[in-house]
Amino acid sequence: MRMRKKKHGAERIEACSELLIKDIATLKDGFDGIFDDDTRPVHLEIGCGKGNFAVGMAKQHPDVNFIAMERVADVCCIALEKAMAAKEERSGDNLRFLIGDAKLLADNVRPHSLDCVYLNFSDPWPKAGHAKRRLTHRSFLDIYKTLLKEDGILRLKTDNVGLFDFSLEEFEAYGAQILWMTRDLHQSEKNADNVMTEYEKNFSEKGFSICSAWVKLPK
Ligand SMILES: C[S@@+](CC[C@H](N)C(=O)[O-])C[C@H]1O[C@@H](n2cnc3c(N)ncnc32)[C@H](O)[C@@H]1O
Repeated sequence: MRMRKKKHGAERIEACSELLIKDIATLKDGFDGIFDDDTRPVHLEIGCGKGNFAVGMAKQHPDVNFIAMERVADVCCIALEKAMAAKEERSGDNLRFLIGDAKLLADNVRPHSLDCVYLNFSDPWPKAGHAKRRLTHRSFLDIYKTLLKEDGILRLKTDNVGLFDFSLEEFEAYGAQILWMTRDLHQSEKNADNVMTEYEKNFSEKGFSICSAWVKLPK
């Protein structure tokens, strides 16, 4: 997501610091002490953008702890401010943000500590030469496999048919099990509980169908 540099970005992020995990390396030992209740399962969204999904999910699922990760600090700033503004709507202290690249997760997060990883409207990187940058490339699946618990799942949403087809091919080549999939999420049985992202709202208003898959990676 491109964005003009925010004025006072660092100060604005600092004002939301109670929701920010400042040092990803602190997650090497797991998530104890991060949320008000350590016993909840932990779900991670990678590439949270402006935060609508994470904020909505944290409100809808008070029994889950959510971490929303975004590599562009100025974009995460908007998500953080949205989450601060909606603080009173959450019944638990169950939402945190991380600024950084997903590649950092491999060496900094405790293995087999996550119950779910979400990839929502990830950058499609349409050029064949950029396939390794796609967040469903097998090198990223290696990271998610390490982070997810044995029964953990990867959940994907995208409007981009090319990225979706590539992802399904990667899942198959990786020996992953597709638990559920659709090429029209908003007409599916899972739509009632669906929390829309900013991109999802935008693309669906323009008439695009949303593809989604729930996947279990092999042991
Ligand atoms: C197309 S936007 C979608 C944003 C949001 N998920 C939505 O659906 O509205 C993709 C976002 O993922 C972030 N992103 C891309 N690659 C990333 C990575 N390797 N690690 C963390 N964030 C990443 C981008 O900065 C961008 O904000």
